[in-house]
Amino acid sequence: MSDNDIETVSKAFIERHGRPPAGVWAAPGRVNLIGEHTDYNDGFVMPYALPQRVTVAAALRPDDTWTVTSLNNSDTQTFGRSDLVPGMSGWQAYVAGVVWALAEAGHRVAGADLVLTSDVPLGAGLSSSAALECATLTALADLNDLDIAPLDRAKLARRCENAFVGAPTGLLDQAASTMCTGDHALFFDCRSFDSEQVPLDLKTAGLEILVLDTKTPHALVDSEYATRRASCEQAAAILGVPALRDVEDLDAALDQLKDEEMRRRVRHVVTENGRVLQAVQTLRAGDFRALAPLLDASHASMRDDFEITVSTVDLAVEAAREAGALGARMTGGGFGGCIIALVEAGSSDRVAAFIGDRFAEAGYHHPEHFVALPSAGAGRVG
Ligand code: GLA
Repeated sequence: MSDNDIETVSKAFIERHGRPPAGVWAAPGRVNLIGEHTDYNDGFVMPYALPQRVTVAAALRPDDTWTVTSLNNSDTQTFGRSDLVPGMSGWQAYVAGVVWALAEAGHRVAGADLVLTSDVPLGAGLSSSAALECATLTALADLNDLDIAPLDRAKLARRCENAFVGAPTGLLDQAASTMCTGDHALFFDCRSFDSEQVPLDLKTAGLEILVLDTKTPHALVDSEYATRRASCEQAAAILGVPALRDVEDLDAALDQLKDEEMRRRVRHVVTENGRVLQAVQTLRAGDFRALAPLLDASHASMRDDFEITVSTVDLAVEAAREAGALGARMTGGGFGGCIIALVEAGSSDRVAAFIGDRFAEAGYHHPEHFVALPSAGAGRVG
């Protein structure tokens, strides 16, 4: 987000509605440093917020109607209270679903006009939809004087995603968008909801995190995500534990499971939780280079045990390492999207160019990249 986005949505609001907005709010996308597919297993995650965000200018209106204009696709959608029915499709469902979730939780939400823009890459596993939900929620909460803590905002946004849009996700993306702070990663326990802001001063350590979007469409993401989740829940039921978070002795658990695929799924979740706990230790100690082997191990686990990577993503990770990255892994739900690579400060462009060459040789789309600085969570920006 830039000051430009604030100005752009404010101007567009005035042009469209003939009055100034009451304010401007923003909510970021995220990268997950480590802890993939652990959230819905009551486990641990460690995301940080991106500078890319959804920025929304908004004001209340005197009736029970919501209008939302996206400057990205020049589309305006209008809905009333009777349209707030779970199962709505289209981008506006993430806005309508937030109104629905707030109302369902007993909050009084008045009609509003919203004009938004987003620079979070779409469909890249960087939580563009959570950013849209959380930006809407932050704006509507402020406009309606609702006193809702960041964690509860995340839960409401997740409720929108799960029950209104119909995606069975965990709390990772929404918690990252509402709770992250600049220069920190968020260590988050998805069972107790305890959180810790862990300093992530990569610059001082002479490092940076490259995000590279493989531009691979997420073709199977919805069905495969749900299958992975179901497999984890079945395994927990067989093991007699509330969630895979509760598996204390991995070998004993694996002995109890007959299905080879299910054993691999469990091994990923249990070892990934362990890696988040190790990662938080390295960060607390300021030993950022020690993150690298954990990133590598996380990727191998997602590739071999959870089987959520695809060839473009695997090639990007391998090529990143060949080009000198200290460690690299896919980030997000999987089946395409982005990788993150821990690289020496100033080497991101060179590493990305090397990956780009390997992609060209393999006949893949040209990837896009940026250096991801840990940025602020959702809030009022204008
Ligand atoms: C998606 C979901 C999250 C989480 C990740 C995988 O981003 O929305 O809840 O499960 O995948 O870690």
